Amino acid sequence: MSHILFISGSLRTDSVNTKVLKAMESLLPTGTATTWANINLPLFNEELEADFPTDAETLRQQILAADAIIIATPEYNRAISGALKNALDWASRPYGQNAWAGKKVLVCSASPSGIGGATANYQVKQSLLHLNAIVIGQPEVIIGHTFGLFADDGTVIDETNTTLLQAAVDTILAT
Ligand code: FNR
Repeated sequence: MSHILFISGSLRTDSVNTKVLKAMESLLPTGTATTWANINLPLFNEELEADFPTDAETLRQQILAADAIIIATPEYNRAISGALKNALDWASRPYGQNAWAGKKVLVCSASPSGIGGATANYQVKQSLLHLNAIVIGQPEVIIGHTFGLFADDGTVIDETNTTLLQAAVDTILAT
């Protein structure tokens, strides 16, 4: 049985990126274990590492326990969300105990604009590659024009995105 950790880069309750992850969770084979991360963490500061924040340590342990991680990032001003970059940084510490190393990670992005958060998507991958994660290259999950694409419970409205998300889920489970 696989264990998947979901990380939404948006703190917003109505986040389309969280809905993308919920849709992917619904497409997992029966019996797949899932966990959701809380990335509402203190701003990273090396001085806080000596008394490592509990929520940041919880995130580290969730990453270490997962067989694979699926991240969905919003794009803010052509860049990764601050909350997500902060979480990437916390989980890369303490020095020498980078939790991302060797972890399979699928990075998704979604945005109401046409570009689908592609810039942010690749910025997340850039940091993860540096952190020695195993980053899934294909399929790319970059979803634009999101208005009306996802129901409130995460159900995907259209067949094209259902097919894409199913392929992405199948790929990370098979990697
Ligand atoms: C945005 N948005 C946005 N979208 C995009 O595709 N590229 C961008 O550079 C930006 N920049 C940006 C900056 C700021 C400050 C905000 C608040 C928003 C729009 C963004 O994609 C949209 O609000 C998404 O719905 C955010 O993702 P969640 O929260 O729905 O997951």
